[in-house]
Amino acid sequence: MVKILVTGGLGYIGSHTVVALQEAGFKVVIVDNLSNSSISVLEGIVAITNKTPEFENFDLRDKLKTKHFLKKHTDICGVIHFAASKAVGESVENPLLYYENNINTLIYLLQELDKKETSNFIFSSSCTVYGQADAMPITEAAPIKPAESPYGNTKQIGEAIIKDTCRANQNFNAIALRYFNPIGAHKSAKIGELPIGVPQNLVPYITQTALGIREQLSVYGNNYPTPDGTCIRDYIHVVDVANAHVVALERLLNKKHQDNFEIFNLGTGKGSSVLEVIQAFERVSIQKLNYKIVNRREGDVISAYADTKKANEILGWKAKSTIDDAMDSAWKWQKTL
Ligand code: NAD
Ligand code: WQD
Repeated sequence: MVKILVTGGLGYIGSHTVVALQEAGFKVVIVDNLSNSSISVLEGIVAITNKTPEFENFDLRDKLKTKHFLKKHTDICGVIHFAASKAVGESVENPLLYYENNINTLIYLLQELDKKETSNFIFSSSCTVYGQADAMPITEAAPIKPAESPYGNTKQIGEAIIKDTCRANQNFNAIALRYFNPIGAHKSAKIGELPIGVPQNLVPYITQTALGIREQLSVYGNNYPTPDGTCIRDYIHVVDVANAHVVALERLLNKKHQDNFEIFNLGTGKGSSVLEVIQAFERVSIQKLNYKIVNRREGDVISAYADTKKANEILGWKAKSTIDDAMDSAWKWQKTL
């Protein structure tokens, strides 16, 4: 069996990807320090797949431990690197934590993998690298805008570090996947998003409001130059995102890549406004959501949705779920929590 390291594999996207990998027949070893996840996620993964991934709890900022870990697991054939800190607001308040966690962990991993005969590496990047793009839908060739936050900057720097590593070492193969807005949960409702404290993202805020954990959703502005005045994003089911990792990994393992550093957008190609997301939630949950329009949130881009042509045609992957499917799964998950 082909063994894959999944860093941050107990987190939101990582856990869904571990499920997809195990279902595709891969053997998985997870490294996670539980800084933004819970050990109970492991039980959810086992309940869905009937397989127990190996798990090591340590901090990837520990260079020596990372080195020892990779020396012990010489049979790792591919690495999917999710582990990072991801809260945009927190990154503005504590930039050094973000640079340390998101850049050091990446460098320490790459330093070890670079010594191997061949390495296959998948990186979690983000649509945040595009900032407010000049044209919609956003292609991978769109210019990278100066980052709006230290978090966004870590994704830009991370991509650059990987690109340079690939240029210097032709046996180092990497794919950066730029996720748009992952939402939803596994259909079993055994794993999903576990926001700590007050959610910053739209969908968990909606589901917590519907359940009465939050009083009211604030919609940040309805005076944007969009059809209904609210911001537009490309919301993609997390299971579709997870499946794309399996496809990307197989591309590298089967040597189907055209370049040893490739970039793909992971989105649906369809933009939805905040009000359309609320309507989708109301449709699937058959209830009205308590929300009010408030001022704009600082730093929000007006619109961002993916051109999916490259992912569809070259990677050979396409998002399958609708926004209603995703909202339905998010709501089922929220009710089990
Ligand atoms: P998450 O916080 O749920 O998962 C990250 C996991 O990594 C957590 O389980 C955390 O405990 C672990 N981790 C963090 N630092 C670590 C360290 N130093 N050592 C070991 N483990 C560590 O986040 P997610 O939503 O699953 O995101 C996964 C990746 O995708 C991140 O790199 C994130 O920046 C990127 N991304 C996320 C989104 C999104 O909207 N969720 C969008 C674009 C990109
Ligand atoms: C979506 C829309 C808000 C909350 C963030 C990161 C980005 C990426 C994905 C990692 C926006 C509106 C939200 C609320 C609202 N992550 N909203 N009320 O801002 O597109 O992207 O997550 O890489 O880097 O910035 O996602 O879910 O926060 O917001 O009206 O309570 O919902 O204004 O238009 P965003 P989000």
